[in-house]
Amino acid sequence: MPAITASAPGKIILLGEHAVVYGHPALAIPVHQVQAKVTASADIGVPRGRIRILSPKIHIDTERGLLADDHPLSLAIDGALRAVGVEQPPALLLRIDSTLPVAAGLGSGAAVSVALIRALTAFLGYPLPDAEVNALAYTVEQRLHGTPSGIDNTVITYARPIFYQREHGFQPLTVGAPLTFVIGDTGVRSPTREAVAAVRQDWQAEPARSEALFAHIARIVIEGRAALEGGRPQTLGSLMNEDQRCLAALNVSSPELERLVGTALDAGALGAKLSGGGRGGNMIALVTPERAKAIASALQAAGAVRVLTTRLLAEPAREVQHD
Ligand code: MEV
Repeated sequence: MPAITASAPGKIILLGEHAVVYGHPALAIPVHQVQAKVTASADIGVPRGRIRILSPKIHIDTERGLLADDHPLSLAIDGALRAVGVEQPPALLLRIDSTLPVAAGLGSGAAVSVALIRALTAFLGYPLPDAEVNALAYTVEQRLHGTPSGIDNTVITYARPIFYQREHGFQPLTVGAPLTFVIGDTGVRSPTREAVAAVRQDWQAEPARSEALFAHIARIVIEGRAALEGGRPQTLGSLMNEDQRCLAALNVSSPELERLVGTALDAGALGAKLSGGGRGGNMIALVTPERAKAIASALQAAGAVRVLTTRLLAEPAREVQHD
């Protein structure tokens, strides 16, 4: 059996994180500069059924049988095997290489799940369609995050800009004018699960307050979609700023995020906000192409541990890479 490699991109949430968990809409786009890559290959001379998992970057060299059943990797492997009806696979090696920072709001967990499910099922000769890959990755997200909306696994599986709502699934977005984003990492690791749990606690304590903020965010998302599709970056930037104020009111911003957001705006960004769970991780800034380099440098000077620039092209909606 030839080795099979599959990969999946990272993502950013453009507008609507957290409110999306409560059934409101959100916008997300893939980020192809960062990737999770999984290679499935035969492990020669090893008894059938043994699955070795190697991830040098995070110092994992183990076997499926040694991991807890509710470990995200076990869930992805077992789910994939069940989906293709294989109980005892040939001995195999799953090598995971990811350039996605963990717990940084870029969808690292979902990207590893999607790449692993694709590589394993294709290696066994039964590649799954995207809808099934997405559904399986969502079950892993549920274990990881408790109450995920499903936006991360969906934008990562389909690798295109989406408008997402939990009950209605996703609609692909068309982009009216090219957009440039600078993504800055605070370096503060913040698991999405904890941020989502903190928002839930506040919602339980003061439901009317949280729900008013979610409803405000939902309006921002609807206007943001129109601005994105209508090619109005200035409006989109203002909406990102308004969303950031709502997210700060939901207590998911942090001093480090605020510093990078303020730095980007001072350096001429059209809008800036945290992206993903918040309380650390990455922020995003919508910028004009002319200001991109200066804003990236300003973020680095302000303490960003990693800065990426990504461009969303106008119709057909595609994201391309820039350093
Ligand atoms: C995480 O990327 C986005 C959140 O809204 C969580 C979720 O939607 O599952 C914070």
